[in-house]
Amino acid sequence: MRIIETVAEMQAFSREARREGKSISLVPTMGFLHEGHASLMIEGKKRADILVTSIFVNPTQFGPTEDFDAYPRDLARDRNVAETAGVDIIFAPKASDMYPRGFQTYVNVEELTLPLCGASRPGHFQGVTTVVAKLLNIVMPHVALFGKKDFQQLAVIRRMAADLNMDVEIVGMPIVREADGLAMSSRNAYLGPEERRNALCLSRALATARDLFLDGERSVGTLRDRVLRVIGEVSGAVIDYADFRDGDTLEAVETANGRTLIALAVKIGTTRLIDNCILGEE
Ligand code: PAJ
Repeated sequence: MRIIETVAEMQAFSREARREGKSISLVPTMGFLHEGHASLMIEGKKRADILVTSIFVNPTQFGPTEDFDAYPRDLARDRNVAETAGVDIIFAPKASDMYPRGFQTYVNVEELTLPLCGASRPGHFQGVTTVVAKLLNIVMPHVALFGKKDFQQLAVIRRMAADLNMDVEIVGMPIVREADGLAMSSRNAYLGPEERRNALCLSRALATARDLFLDGERSVGTLRDRVLRVIGEVSGAVIDYADFRDGDTLEAVETANGRTLIALAVKIGTTRLIDNCILGEE
C-alpha cells in the first residue's frame, strides 16, 4: 500500500494506470475508518484492478458551528484498516492543495439537497458535491462506492454524476451496524457510555416502524407517531428530523410503500447521529 499526499502525484498515478489499461475504484472517506468504510473497500477491491481510498476531512462541508476541528483523526490506525481491507493507494491531500488560494468554483445539486440534512446543515451538500467532483477528477476512477448510511448524500452524488455526465459508476452499499443495531459512524467515538446506550433509539425506532409496516400499517401518520414515541422515551435524545420520504425523489409521502425512506437525525447530547431504512428492504 502506498500513501499519496499531493493532487499532482495522484493524478499522474491514475493517468498512468489508465494508460496501462487498469481499472480504478475509489472509496472517498474522512478517515477514522471503521467496518462500514471497510465494507466499501472490500467491494471496491472486487470491482477494479486498483483500489484507492481518499482520507480527507473536507472543510467545505462543515458549517461554522460544526465539529470540523474536533472531527476524529488517526492516520496510523486508518493505514491498518485500509491495508487489511485491500487498499492499494491512500490519497490523503492537504486542504491547501485541494482548496488553494483563489478557489471559487462549487457544484450545487438543487431540489435533492433541500430537505433532511440539507435543511439542517446549510451549505453541507455543496461542500460534499464539490469535494467528490474534485476527487473524481483527480483519481479518475471507473467505479466510486458510497454507503447508504448517508442516504441523501448517495442520492445527491448519483444526481450530480448523471447531470454532469461524469464517466463513473456510482455504487451504493448497505449500512453496516454494530451487533446491537447502532449504525457505525466515526462520530460514535464522541459518545459516552450512557449516550452510547441512548443512541440505540435510532435503530430501535426504525425497526419498530418497519415491523408495523410489515404487519400491514401504511399510514405515515401512525408510523411516525411510533417513531417519535420510541425516540421520546430516551431523555437526552433530541430529534432534528424524522421524515418519511420517497426513496428515489426524497419527496414527502403520506402513505408508505416498500420504497419509502425513513430518515432520522437525532442529537444524543451534543452528538448528531443519522440513520435510515427503506421500509421494503432488509
Ligand atoms: P465518511 O463519513 O467518512 O464516510 C465515507 C463513506 O463511508 C460514505 O460513503 C459513507 O456513507 C460510508 N459509511 C459511513 N458509515 C457507514 C456504515 N455504517 N455503513 C456503510 N457505509 C458507511 O461521507 C463522507 O465521509 C464524506 O461526506 C465524503 C463522501 C468522503 C466527502 O467528504
